[in-house]
Amino acid sequence: MKICIIGASGKLGRYMVQQALDRGYEVVAVCRQQSVGKLDDFKDRITLMPGATNDPDVIRQVVSGCEGVLTVLVPWGVQQYATGTAQAVLDFAPADARLIFSCGWHITRDGKDRYSRRFKLLLALFGWLARVVRFADLDDQVEACRRIFASDTRWTVVRGSDLEEGPSQGLPLWSRHVGDPVLESNLTRRVDFARFMVEALGNDQLIHEAPAIVGCQSPSAQAYGETGCRRVTDV
Ligand SMILES: NC(=O)c1ccc[n+]([C@@H]2O[C@H](COP(=O)([O-])OP(=O)(O)OC[C@H]3O[C@@H](n4cnc5c(N)ncnc54)[C@H](OP(=O)(O)O)[C@@H]3O)[C@@H](O)[C@H]2O)c1
Repeated sequence: MKICIIGASGKLGRYMVQQALDRGYEVVAVCRQQSVGKLDDFKDRITLMPGATNDPDVIRQVVSGCEGVLTVLVPWGVQQYATGTAQAVLDFAPADARLIFSCGWHITRDGKDRYSRRFKLLLALFGWLARVVRFADLDDQVEACRRIFASDTRWTVVRGSDLEEGPSQGLPLWSRHVGDPVLESNLTRRVDFARFMVEALGNDQLIHEAPAIVGCQSPSAQAYGETGCRRVTDV
């Protein structure tokens, strides 16, 4: 399988590159010019295109001939970077390609997610502060996902919980709505987030889903995993 990883130089991106190579996929990667060195470990095994991920010309070239596209959507900056990135992928990826996007739990597809007061407070505080200092714009990621949800491409939007580093614990569990008991622990290993993203490429049951994920060994997954959750193989 030939796949493209957009935003490959970040922590999530590099885990995805490693896991895609482990599976024998041919990998084309995009990252910002100043971050090329972060992919040195892979430089002989991937095709790397330096460039802004919201540049339509860059995206048009890298997604050509790809069966899957993994995109790290980030709200950094205030130039609609996430929206531009998502739009370029939607516009130029081959029609039959699987498109997997990453984001956080704050994205809601149908408005039925139930957030704790603490989560809403932190989100409002971070969103406000980030906008004031022009560090990030959470609404940009919201708009990016709104466009993805409205698209008839073969998309999946993977919504990550809080993340931590550490060795893999296995494929995360998922649920359609934040607030479901299985997600209560709100913690996933970043390496397993990447694993879920890569796994989703080959799972058509996740098309047009926005799974909210949680570590499979987290307390809430252990407590409710048998009844209240979905595994990556479930519809
Ligand atoms: N961090 C969390 O706790 C958390 C929680 C839930 C979900 N998520 C989701 O997980 C995904 C990965 O997040 P992460 O926090 O783990 O980050 P990450 O993997 O380290 O990735 C950060 C990405 O943002 C890019 N970036 C950094 N500054 C930028 C800027 N000013 N303009 C444009 N791009 C910039 C980086 O590119 P360079 O390598 O070029 O700097 C890199 O591709 C995201 O979709 C995020 O929404 C994160």
